[in-house]
Amino acid sequence: MEFSFILNGKRVVCDISDNQTLLDLLRDSLGVTSVKKGCEQGECGACTVLLDGEPVTSCLVLARRIEGREVTTVEGLVDDPKMKSLREAFLEEGAVQCGYCTPGMLLSAYSLIRSNLDPTEAQVKKAIEGNLCRCTGYVKIIEAIIHAAKKLKSE
Ligand code: FES
Ligand code: FES
Repeated sequence: MEFSFILNGKRVVCDISDNQTLLDLLRDSLGVTSVKKGCEQGECGACTVLLDGEPVTSCLVLARRIEGREVTTVEGLVDDPKMKSLREAFLEEGAVQCGYCTPGMLLSAYSLIRSNLDPTEAQVKKAIEGNLCRCTGYVKIIEAIIHAAKKLKSE
């Protein structure tokens, strides 16, 4: 079945199978490997992307459901000032270890700070509650997100 959607601002036309997930379409067919495959059950958040601007776990979305819709991954936000600030803060605060959770974590954080440059710790925890990290213990990730938001607010 041929269909099209918008990936990182560009229209993509591709073939999909009936039961293919958005995660498999992105990774296996389109080579977008920043979107990580973890649990494939909606539990870990490694596969998070923005669908029409909102974070979703792409392992739970059937590819055929996204016809005509907009999907954004970290690649699509390379030049975005808010994402840039988040990336820098993650590095400065030591919020990245193995990095497997990082793209999904960044997209959830981006979704938060896009509308809130003064998030409380509780709001940050809520925003990333669907993103599991096995390495960092979360403290540095939370600090990095708050730091990035504060920096953007002061600019
Ligand atoms: S791979 Fe999708 S939530 Fe874990
Ligand atoms: S940095 Fe390894 S899972 Fe988060």
